Amino acid sequence: MKAYFITGTDTGVGKTSITAGLAGSMRKMGIDVGVMKPIATGYPNKTGFKSSDVAKLVEATSTKDPENLINPVFLPLPTSPYDATKLLKLSVDMPLIFEQFKKLLSTHEMLLVEGIGGIMTPITKNFFVADMIKGMNIETIIVTRATIGTLNHTVMTCKICEDYGIKIRGLVINNFDEKGTPAEKNAAVTLYELTNIPILGTIPFIKDLHSLEKIIEYVDKNIDMKFLIS
Ligand SMILES: Nc1ncnc2c1ncn2[C@@H]1O[C@H](COP(=O)(O)OP(=O)(O)O)[C@@H](O)[C@H]1O
Ligand SMILES: [Mg+2]
Repeated sequence: MKAYFITGTDTGVGKTSITAGLAGSMRKMGIDVGVMKPIATGYPNKTGFKSSDVAKLVEATSTKDPENLINPVFLPLPTSPYDATKLLKLSVDMPLIFEQFKKLLSTHEMLLVEGIGGIMTPITKNFFVADMIKGMNIETIIVTRATIGTLNHTVMTCKICEDYGIKIRGLVINNFDEKGTPAEKNAAVTLYELTNIPILGTIPFIKDLHSLEKIIEYVDKNIDMKFLIS
């Protein structure tokens, strides 16, 4: 009954990939891992799930949990949840999200919840992803990148977590290129210096990421999994 909320410094930073990698790695350790994507937005896809993120998370865990438990809210427009609700004249059922969250939490040893966008992505005009994390009352893992601009985005994300009283377990630096720019090579050291948050590990840019095995392999090798499951 342990859970992490995986957020990121931005959309496209690698939340789904890292969550799938973490879930796959934990599963290999014999842990019963559940996954949740409380709110997803986007156009229809061919995965058999409303959200392609959900398809990836399900593949990583082979969970038998039904889609409406894993992903209680799907809004068919690739925007923030708030924009989607305005444009489609829909609403987000937050009580349902918290109800499904509790069910998943009570039926798995470990639950990994993937956020949407970043920490201040709006769900309604005055309810953000940060409020959802606060409501779930679980620790976060922040996925960030190493390229220039990451110091600003990561420090801001950590600052918001601090303001909300959200505990951060650690940072995962994704898409790291060891032959990258000086800013990139220095990112882990400087991010730790500025935030004092543990760096759980770095994951390089992986050429053939379509293979789930590849990301699991890197997560096993590069992420401090013992610290995460303890
Ligand atoms: N380490 C990596 N190496 C190569 N491609 C990556 C890596 N991490 C993420 N990607 C790719 O970047 C895109 C965005 O990643 P994703 O995990 O979907 O981000 P998010 O969930 O934060 O939006 C996807 O196409 C994914 O396959
Ligand atoms: Mg995602």
